[in-house]
Amino acid sequence: MTDLPSGKAIVAGVAGWPVGHSRSPRLHGHWLRRYGVDGLYAPFPVAPEKFELAVRGLAGAGLAGLNVTVPHKEAACGLCDRLDETARRLGAANTLIFGPEGAIEGRNTDAFGFAENLKAGAGAVTGGTAVVLGAGGAARAVVLALQSLGYGPIRLVNRTASRAEAVADALGPAIETVPWAERAGALDGAALLVNATSLGMTGQPALDLPLDDLPAEATVNDIVYAPLETPLLAAARRRGCRTVDGLGMLLHQGRPGFHAWFGVDPAVDEDLRRAVAGDLLSAG
Ligand code: ATR
Repeated sequence: MTDLPSGKAIVAGVAGWPVGHSRSPRLHGHWLRRYGVDGLYAPFPVAPEKFELAVRGLAGAGLAGLNVTVPHKEAACGLCDRLDETARRLGAANTLIFGPEGAIEGRNTDAFGFAENLKAGAGAVTGGTAVVLGAGGAARAVVLALQSLGYGPIRLVNRTASRAEAVADALGPAIETVPWAERAGALDGAALLVNATSLGMTGQPALDLPLDDLPAEATVNDIVYAPLETPLLAAARRRGCRTVDGLGMLLHQGRPGFHAWFGVDPAVDEDLRRAVAGDLLSAG
């Protein structure tokens, strides 16, 4: 095996605050080893008030680019000289590519990651009515992805109605907002249910959602991946629904950045799932 990395290594990383929980170093580290790339991918804990200084400094130091995670995705958008359409529509960038003259290109690959994971896990993407729970940044990316895959109408259910209305205003027209109290009935006739809230995540409250009105032919996708099989996915499986877990969204969203920085379009497979989330797999 080649001794890697060398003094010529291509360097990228992830900026977040905090960043210690990020699985991106494992994700990109696995791909670097797998493809024998002379590269490095490092975590950068960057406080919000230092974000611009850090990004410009790292770009000036010759990094190929950065992933950007909470709470920097919106600020990242503001620093970019160029944005892809998804980042522009979401007002948030999670992937920065640094050009030779210090120019910063921003992309948002969350919608891509969600769509690729759904396509891989759901077999056929059927279109039809989709129910999305949540109205944060993750839910917005999910809505864009569903629109690009041909789902509609989209019933958007969120605890805070005004946030759901804001998403519908920004990303409509085929988005119907549904009050949180009516979430169980919103499942009637749905082809797809997506949980894009934090409910059901380890350490967060449970998602209280009876599935009686959900057709058994529906697919259920939880973007929560810790635990890997959330109570929602377990209940959906018992109902006979096809289920898609959230880990693949994380894995697929990393592909465009890796490709741009290191020149390889990397594969998402079982080896990668084990490398990135072995702790969750054995727990499940
Ligand atoms: P992100 O940008 O990662 O999507 P976020 O903006 O904090 O994160 O969104 C979290 C989502 O989970 C929101 O839709 C939130 O609902 P509100 O908009 O009403 O805050 C939802 N959520 C979090 N805790 C919740 C709870 N206890 N009950 C219902 N929804 C909850």
